[in-house]
Amino acid sequence: MLHLLHNRKYKVLTLLFLAVVAACSLNLFIATRIDQKYLESTALKLHGDSKFNPRASTRAVFKFVSDRIKHNSQVSRAGNPDGIYFHWDDWVDLSPADRILNRYRKGFPLGECDDIIEDFAKVNGYRMESYNRKVLRGMANLYCSKEVPDRIILTTDNEMIEVPVVGKRRMGYDSKPIKMNKQMLIRKMKKVEKSVVHSNFTTYPIKALQSNLDISVADFLFDPEAETFKLQEKESQTKLTSEESTYLEFLQTSSELSDHADKFFKYPWIVTDVVQGRSHHIAYPFFKRFIGDRERQSIIHHMIRAWFSFAETTGYASWIAHGSLLGWTYNGVNMPWDTDVDIQMPIVQIDKLGRYHNNSIIVENPRYGNGKYYLVVAPTYLKYGNGRNFIDARFIDINSGLYIDISAVQYTGDVPPNNEQNERRDLSQLWVHCKNWNWNSLDEILPLRHTYFEGGSAYIPKKVTQIMSRKYGSDSMSDYSFHHHNFQKDIDLWVPDEICSKPPKIKTRFNEHGGLSYKGACHSPVLSDEYDIVKPSADRHKLLNKNLDNPATYRVEEMGELPFLRKDAWDYFNDLNENLVHCTGWAINEPVVGKIYETGKANEKQ
Ligand SMILES: *[C@@H]1O[C@H](CO)[C@@H](O)[C@H](O)[C@H]1NC(C)=O
Ligand SMILES: *[C@@H]1O[C@H](CO)[C@@H](O)[C@H](O)[C@H]1NC(C)=O
Repeated sequence: MLHLLHNRKYKVLTLLFLAVVAACSLNLFIATRIDQKYLESTALKLHGDSKFNPRASTRAVFKFVSDRIKHNSQVSRAGNPDGIYFHWDDWVDLSPADRILNRYRKGFPLGECDDIIEDFAKVNGYRMESYNRKVLRGMANLYCSKEVPDRIILTTDNEMIEVPVVGKRRMGYDSKPIKMNKQMLIRKMKKVEKSVVHSNFTTYPIKALQSNLDISVADFLFDPEAETFKLQEKESQTKLTSEESTYLEFLQTSSELSDHADKFFKYPWIVTDVVQGRSHHIAYPFFKRFIGDRERQSIIHHMIRAWFSFAETTGYASWIAHGSLLGWTYNGVNMPWDTDVDIQMPIVQIDKLGRYHNNSIIVENPRYGNGKYYLVVAPTYLKYGNGRNFIDARFIDINSGLYIDISAVQYTGDVPPNNEQNERRDLSQLWVHCKNWNWNSLDEILPLRHTYFEGGSAYIPKKVTQIMSRKYGSDSMSDYSFHHHNFQKDIDLWVPDEICSKPPKIKTRFNEHGGLSYKGACHSPVLSDEYDIVKPSADRHKLLNKNLDNPATYRVEEMGELPFLRKDAWDYFNDLNENLVHCTGWAINEPVVGKIYETGKANEKQ
């Protein structure tokens, strides 16, 4: 008996020991940083294996528009008189799931699915499973289950063109690989831009951001019940338009929904990623691989510029917040380890965004890159609800799943921290907050201020240092070491500690071309490339924002946008795979073109 007990105890101890060893090694395995080189070579291989070309869908929409302008009566294959067809398979590289999807593409070329794959595709993104299975699931979800957008918005040099989507149908743009370079696509875009005035497409002339933007206090006060009442009143007298009845129905159901909703914006839950959370900044179902640091910086560079241009042009006010704003204080760009961009907007404007531009794809001007962004407003934006949904909208890069988080800011009557006075008598000092309880008084936000972020025009709140100090502490803007990076003031750049933890002790870090010398770059070609990319933004930031709260005066049109400085991510891998380039740099210099900047250029020349 004693012997048996002893034996059992021994067994338990052994098991316990093994369990601890297993847990430790598993933890080590999942907590080890995935090597950047590994991420890049995986991406390169996936690109090489895929036939997907993002220019194909862009070209198809431009062609649809020009066909419609030329022969209005004819119905083109890509759509009908009311708009164009859409299938995610034509817009997103779903090749990681080819082994499942090819069968369906062949059996049903127009993109239908059957029950088997539908069941596989509609499983909640929060099911914990392996990386490979999650990727297959996401791709199948896009192929079969995800609703198609309501509209596609094309960007040309001077216009945005809205193309309604009329239904789900796969066109197979990639089945006949097209040889089409960027120049050909730009010519197409210019031609469409010229003739689109003679069509019935809704267009918006592209606008330059203003030097200051005041927002009405009323935009921070939103009363869904009053809106509901107004519409019901109207309904009792006349017939509501279809948009109005949709909106009324939404108002009547959203409140209930917000109280019981699951998280609306999901990220993929992956077993091997629980500790690191590297997929937590990639939207499900768009996730197909982890994104390396430099690729992510490129995607963010293009995405943030596309957002502000879209928002100004279509009439929405927003500003940079949180970590992105902290990054701006240093050198005018996002911090290299930051995984997303945070934007805030007044609640009334989110409401409008939801009514007029929800579920849209915004296509980047092909001159600058191949970006396609999916704009979605959460149906839970009206109120705090059960607290699961504090992000109110997202602007998602559909080929990587990276995104801009957009949150509504409003006055709710809740008591601000520190018992700040919050009376509606003094409107300019009203305290407002987002659903994640970041509080600001209106006079520290308004009027919004024009600045340059990632080289493009953007808005920031008025009192940056006050806001940053409250959120991150007063030394957050001068703490030169964060997240395995150190900020080297002599080159205005966050440098990964593993490259060098302080500036090298040499007479000069620069070469005769104004770039970093080999030693000056701590022997790192990556650092040298990063320096070239960030320098124009950092220089301008220094010129304009010596005093963070009190910028130098400048005229926006005269200053103009900085060029696009990071190569488009798809182009980067494509150029390498096609042997179009010999080195692995991300730096480009693609000037911004458009009528709104021409006055500025003329002045510069004088
Ligand atoms: C625009 O719409 C009107 C009314 O539906 C139609 O008569 C006209 O032909 C259309 N014009 C073009 C260029 O599409
Ligand atoms: C926006 O569109 C998505 C996709 O169709 C939908 O799920 C969501 O409820 C919509 N949001 C609003 C505010 O209507």
